[in-house]
Amino acid sequence: MTALPVFVDVDTGVDDAMALVYLFASEDADVVGIASTAGNVPVQQVCHNNLALLELCGVDVPVSKGSENPVTAPLRTAEDTHGPEGMGYARLPATDRALTDYDAAEAWVRAAHAYPGELTGVATGPLTNLALALRREPALPRLLRRLVIMGGAFDYRGNTTPVAEWNVSVDPEAAAEVFHGWSTAWNGESPEHLPIVLGLNLTEHIVMTPELLGRLTGDGAHPLVAVLEDAMRFYFEFHFACGEGYLAHLHDPLAAAVALDPDLVRCRPTTVDVELTGTLTRGMTIADWSNRWGRDPNALIGVDVDPAAFFERFLTRVGAFTKFLSREQT
Ligand code: BDR
Ligand code: CA
Repeated sequence: MTALPVFVDVDTGVDDAMALVYLFASEDADVVGIASTAGNVPVQQVCHNNLALLELCGVDVPVSKGSENPVTAPLRTAEDTHGPEGMGYARLPATDRALTDYDAAEAWVRAAHAYPGELTGVATGPLTNLALALRREPALPRLLRRLVIMGGAFDYRGNTTPVAEWNVSVDPEAAAEVFHGWSTAWNGESPEHLPIVLGLNLTEHIVMTPELLGRLTGDGAHPLVAVLEDAMRFYFEFHFACGEGYLAHLHDPLAAAVALDPDLVRCRPTTVDVELTGTLTRGMTIADWSNRWGRDPNALIGVDVDPAAFFERFLTRVGAFTKFLSREQT
């Protein structure tokens, strides 16, 4: 099987961690770089979480540190959702692994140039570093094979404000720059190269339950299993406290899975923009379904997903990976 080179931009984060583990568990993915972005927790903590996850999973991937702050707004973090260190109740192992000596924006640009026309990008945090990368390399959209973004909420309520989703809400200016950057670079050509954007309207269908988690972790012989269980327990409790039930939405793993297989979702091309100035609506993502703006499409918005197909794949791959790690350690 030929593995796809994949570059991941994360604000790890419980569900970002699950997305990374899914990619490490997937033989059709070759993770060639990880950008750490400030979001769920500050960027230093995101870097530590990414390096420690690599240690835990026995995987070697260059990890780069991103900007400490969004491109213009002050940083907000979400320890209430992801725990004090971003991994719920889990404690990650110590590691002496080091960050790259170039930053996360540079890592995007280098990876795109290293695999021209081949690289799949996945962004599951605020788009700060991707926006900074686009400033350095405006041709980035034409260098990538595919980009999948977890962000926004389309014809759907927000999870951070009544109308805004977390990743876009933390850095709305960056998200707007990314959508504009893709519009400018592709200028109406090749809609298949537009970013696939998975908003809450889709990702909230990906509902993890304790029963499904049990199928994933099995007899739990490797420390990764305890980390996933302890991280997910916090995430379940957060969703429960929000009145959603004892469950958790796996937003970011859906983006990882779609990066490897876009057929997992049905998308519609449209023009997307981000509200930057509204006093009540800042960070809202607007899809111009009926082309009132008269602009070319700049995104493929996910509108339908089969959660059972996703979970089939997710549980099989991550379950096999934890079993493999357990066997390796004995
Ligand atoms: C997004 O916000 C973060 O808290 C999650 O990691 C996910 O990327 C969902 O709105
Ligand atoms: Ca995330």
